[in-house]
Amino acid sequence: MNNTDPSDDSVRRQLLTRLRHLRNAGIEWLPRAAPLDFAAASKTEAVAQECSEGDLLESRRLALITLADEVKSCTRCAELCSTRTQTVFGQGEPDVELCFIGEAPGAEEDAQGIPFVGAAGQLLNRIIDASGFRREEVYICNILKCRPPGNRTPLPNEAANCRGYLDRQLELVRPKYIVALGACAANNLLQNTISVGKLRGRFHQYKDIPVMVTYHPAYLLPHRSPQSKREVWEDMKMLLQKMGRPVPAKS
Ligand code: URA
Ligand code: URA
Repeated sequence: MNNTDPSDDSVRRQLLTRLRHLRNAGIEWLPRAAPLDFAAASKTEAVAQECSEGDLLESRRLALITLADEVKSCTRCAELCSTRTQTVFGQGEPDVELCFIGEAPGAEEDAQGIPFVGAAGQLLNRIIDASGFRREEVYICNILKCRPPGNRTPLPNEAANCRGYLDRQLELVRPKYIVALGACAANNLLQNTISVGKLRGRFHQYKDIPVMVTYHPAYLLPHRSPQSKREVWEDMKMLLQKMGRPVPAKS
C-alpha cells in the first residue's frame, strides 16, 4: 500500500468518518473481513462502485443521523431555538415507501423528541393502521423541526429556514410516496397557497415523488371537523390504489 497516494488518504479519511459514525450510533465492533486491497481500489470512485445496495442504505442511515445532529444545534430561528425543549427531526428508516409530513411539533412532541405522539399523533396512528401499514414501516416528519410557542402556525421565514433540512431529509429517506397532512405541510412542500379542500383528490409532485394532500389529523379531532375523517379515508384509498396495495375494509 502506497502511503503517499492522496487517493489512499481520502479512502482512509472516509473509513475513519464512517467508523466514527458507527461508534456514535453505538456500534463498537465490526466482524473481521478479508483485508481490503487498497492498490486495486486506489480511486474513491472504484470503492463507491463496489459498494453494495446495503452499504448505500447504511450510508444514508448514517447521513440521516448526522443531519439530525446538525439540526439539534440549529439556531436559525432566534425565537424557536430559545423556546424549544429539543428539536424533533423525524422518525423512521430510510428507503420506506411512504412518508407523512406534518406541520411542526406540539407540546408532547417537543417533550419527547418524536413527531406525532400527542392527540393528533394518536389519530395519525389510527389512519396508518387502518391503511394496512405499521408505524415502523413509514417515515414521519414535519415542515418545522422546532415547536412554535403556543403551537402557533409556522411563520414563512421559519419554514424557509428549515426547508434545507427537509429537502436533505427527503433526499436521504427517498420515499416513493408522500402524504402532506394539512395546509401548512401542503403549501410549504408544494410552494402554493391553495386550500386542502382544493388540493385533495389528485396527486401532486415534489421533485419526482407523488404527493397526496389530505386533512391534518388535528383537524379531525372531536372539537373541529370529525366528519372530515370520511374524506381522509377516501384520500388514503386513492393512495393505496396508486401504491398497488390492498385497500383494507374500514373497521
Ligand atoms: N402536529 C404536527 O403537525 N406534527 C406533529 O408532530 C404533531 C402534531
Ligand atoms: N385547514 C388546515 O389548515 N388543515 C386542514 O387539515 C384542514 C383545514
